[in-house]
Amino acid sequence: MSDIAQHLAVSHKVDIEDLDWAAARKHGLSETEVEMLGYFADIESQTVHYFLEVSRLKVSRDPELLTFLTMWNYEEYFHSYAITRFMEEVGVKVEAASERAQKVRAGARFKAKFEDFMQGMIAKAFPKQFIALWMFWGALQELLTTHAYEELAKATKNPVLHELLKRIAKQERRHFAYYYNNARERLEGDKLAQKMCRQIAKSFYAPVGGGVKTDAEGAQLVAKLFPNDRIFEVMGHIEKRMWALPGMDGLDACTRWAAKVQPMLPAETRATTIPVLAA
Ligand SMILES: [Fe+2]
Ligand SMILES: [Fe+2]
Repeated sequence: MSDIAQHLAVSHKVDIEDLDWAAARKHGLSETEVEMLGYFADIESQTVHYFLEVSRLKVSRDPELLTFLTMWNYEEYFHSYAITRFMEEVGVKVEAASERAQKVRAGARFKAKFEDFMQGMIAKAFPKQFIALWMFWGALQELLTTHAYEELAKATKNPVLHELLKRIAKQERRHFAYYYNNARERLEGDKLAQKMCRQIAKSFYAPVGGGVKTDAEGAQLVAKLFPNDRIFEVMGHIEKRMWALPGMDGLDACTRWAAKVQPMLPAETRATTIPVLAA
């Protein structure tokens, strides 16, 4: 079965109707969890805008790509919806998923708009390489997202939240696999695409949501989720997976980002040792 056929066969909105909301309420959420879930719901709700931006470009009018993007967007939408529902069920005051999404977008910073513009320019000048870049970037972000949900699932004392996060993480891992395999096919033998991916990752890598949250907000969330040296373990793990892609050996963009944001973090979440990076 092709990758897209496999994806289509298993794609579904994350199941939440069978969750035990009474048990979820009984266990409640910590303050940090409320903050993180709110952040995740915001980021997830923005997927539709990435989808809209890329689908405007002529290069994305490939039927297989459009099929994947549609399924992907659908699943991500329900991540935001499921998290928002969970928060409501445990008594956290939250706005409806759609209202939140609109507000977050309205506050989209210049950076997000600039990214959309750059994306259009690259797509016009290098249509083939642009899709490779989009897949490569997607793989990077989906793998971090998978780690983020798994980490929060491991840490929570709420068994119902644990279950929900595990279900979401499973879908994120499937998104990662699609982006990753697709990136590998597109990077194979395309030296220009490889060079562009490396350069853009080196210059612009930041965890997903960078356009709608400030660097400091993004950094603080990542540091709360992966405190101290854990952030370098996770970033190192992501990079090692990327090294197996054509032309990506030794890529250290994620570790560089984690090192760069250390001074923005509260002292107690900073790493004790920062990996030594080549110049
Ligand atoms: Fe998601
Ligand atoms: Fe995802």
